[in-house]
Amino acid sequence: MLTYLKESRGFDFTGYKRSSLMRRVRRRVSQVEIDSYADYIDQLQVNADEFVALFNTILINVTGFFRDPDAWDHLREQVLPALLAERSPEEPIRVWSAGCAAGQEAYSLAMLFADALGVETFRQRVKIYATDVDDEALAQARHAAYTPAEVEGLTEAQLEQYFELQGSRYCFRKDLRRSVIFGRNDLSRTRRSPGSICWSAATR
Ligand SMILES: C[S@@+](CC[C@H](N)C(=O)[O-])C[C@H]1O[C@@H](n2cnc3c(N)ncnc32)[C@H](O)[C@@H]1O
Repeated sequence: MLTYLKESRGFDFTGYKRSSLMRRVRRRVSQVEIDSYADYIDQLQVNADEFVALFNTILINVTGFFRDPDAWDHLREQVLPALLAERSPEEPIRVWSAGCAAGQEAYSLAMLFADALGVETFRQRVKIYATDVDDEALAQARHAAYTPAEVEGLTEAQLEQYFELQGSRYCFRKDLRRSVIFGRNDLSRTRRSPGSICWSAATR
């Protein structure tokens, strides 16, 4: 199955944690009520939509603003002060959100840095490169519009300072979105830093 996906579709999932990967593949195979992997591969060959469904099952886009609070606390309290201390006050800062899903992680980074530097300095110094292999997720990320449920973990102050309510959606501030650059990148294929990724089509 993994060889088929690699050779026919160019997606190399062999580096993924095998137990989780196979659990997700099994889940999809049983959802479509097919009994064997050989029959499922036949289905993948004739049905392009099935590949998209499998891809979405494997990638799982679970995300959220400041998901995994311990990691964000560490970033805010340890990493960020050290990173600022080792740079001169005007030096640019480039941050990479690798596997950014629908953008919440990238915009969380923007809030974190804007809080630490102030909005003006943030705009001058910081670029956040946010990549994912999933085009649908990237489209949502660029849109930057979130439901009330998706912003539930944010404080009133964060919503007030960084979002504009448009209809029923909370949209991340447009002036700060210019510092967040989305691009498609498959970590399993390129293993390159954002500096060497081509951003042209992806940049807003
Ligand atoms: C569980 S989500 C995590 C999102 C975000 N980093 C967070 O922690 O909230 C994993 C993301 O990684 C992306 N992903 C999985 N494999 C990838 C790959 N090979 N290259 C780039 N992105 C990948 C998925 O599309 C998905 O959006």
